[in-house]
Amino acid sequence: MTTAVDFTGPAVQEAERWTAHNYHPLPVVIAEAEGAWVTDVDGRRYLDCLAGYSALNFGHRHPALIAAAHEQLDRVTLTSRAFLHDQFGPFCHELAQLCGKDMVLPMNTGAEAVETAIKVARKWGYRVKGVPGGQATIVVADGNFHGRTTTIISFSTDPDARADFGPYTPGFRIVPYGDLAALAAAVDDTTVAVLLEPIQGEAGVLVPPAGYLPGVRELCTARNVLFVADEIQSGLGRTGATFACDDEHVIPDMYVLGKALGGGIVPVSAVAASSAVLGVLRPGEHGSTFGGNPLACAVARAVIALLNTGEPQARAQDVGAHLHARLGALLGHGLTAVRGRGLWAGIDIDPALMTGRQASERLMRKGILAKDTHGSTLRLAPPLVVTKPEIDTAVDALTEILHP
Ligand SMILES: Cc1ncc(COP(=O)(O)O)c(C=O)c1O
Repeated sequence: MTTAVDFTGPAVQEAERWTAHNYHPLPVVIAEAEGAWVTDVDGRRYLDCLAGYSALNFGHRHPALIAAAHEQLDRVTLTSRAFLHDQFGPFCHELAQLCGKDMVLPMNTGAEAVETAIKVARKWGYRVKGVPGGQATIVVADGNFHGRTTTIISFSTDPDARADFGPYTPGFRIVPYGDLAALAAAVDDTTVAVLLEPIQGEAGVLVPPAGYLPGVRELCTARNVLFVADEIQSGLGRTGATFACDDEHVIPDMYVLGKALGGGIVPVSAVAASSAVLGVLRPGEHGSTFGGNPLACAVARAVIALLNTGEPQARAQDVGAHLHARLGALLGHGLTAVRGRGLWAGIDIDPALMTGRQASERLMRKGILAKDTHGSTLRLAPPLVVTKPEIDTAVDALTEILHP
């Protein structure tokens, strides 16, 4: 990959001119992709080390997922939930079984699934737990990222996500992530749920201290509070297990899923829980026109079938161990911290060397696509189909930009 490439061409300029600037993309214009690799409009190839923020866990255009999509495109794509379709029951059944839960509620985007979890927890609180009307509280962690809707940003601690978008939805208490005592102190009789990422992705792939998630589980059980695990980014193979909660032998009351559930093809999200929890909903109380549509269900069923083989999880463990071993060797040599699990790493670059943004731009010029989260932190989350030699290519490029 040459460094003399012009990344300010007309395709970049057109996007800049005609879109709202709610993102700050790297100036690479992708035209094709396969597996762990993408190709830009000028034919340059890049190793994808972001994987659509984990939406592409199975790689770009996985043959089994593309086949499922094609087959479904040729039959029926949308019915709305006004009618049933032949992919709906099997999808809900298979996802519930993957999660070890009684039932699921499908939506489209991650934020919608989080909104679903919040609504279900509140209704469960009023109708089952007996919280007085309008009083329900949900405890969340600082540094969280659960999406971009007005309710969700109401409990964000990121000023960019929140500042100019009030007034905010009440009913949330924010406690330090990883601090069990603070969490216990925030729970009272109005608390219906604790909503957490088992590993905080956007915050920089922060892994909580050992014992934290089991402690949250115990606390929630003791206080009759729902433990809602947002596994939208951490789940479906990324950490080397089906769910990041599995790594801690913790079973939450509700899983919130998205991203990789749609196989990188269509947006598919869902919550999964017991019938005592999801059973509180009645017709008309929640829904989405595209939620659980035939195309989404067909692709997601193929995703679930892949996960049921255990192969993506095993690859994440094996190749992930190689990634972390290689990154660990850079500690003190340009990196000040390496965190994560499986094929997921948050790395802090010595701020004296460069920002995370500069690092991702320099990596791009070397044919590696990764993205900063904030400051000097970079997230690496390649598709789980990546190989060890490809990981070596990425880490070699990182080493070169740290020590030019
Ligand atoms: C943990 C977590 N929850 C929720 C979301 C929101 O998902 P979406 O962007 O599909 O709304 C994200 C997206 O990055 C996420 O990482």
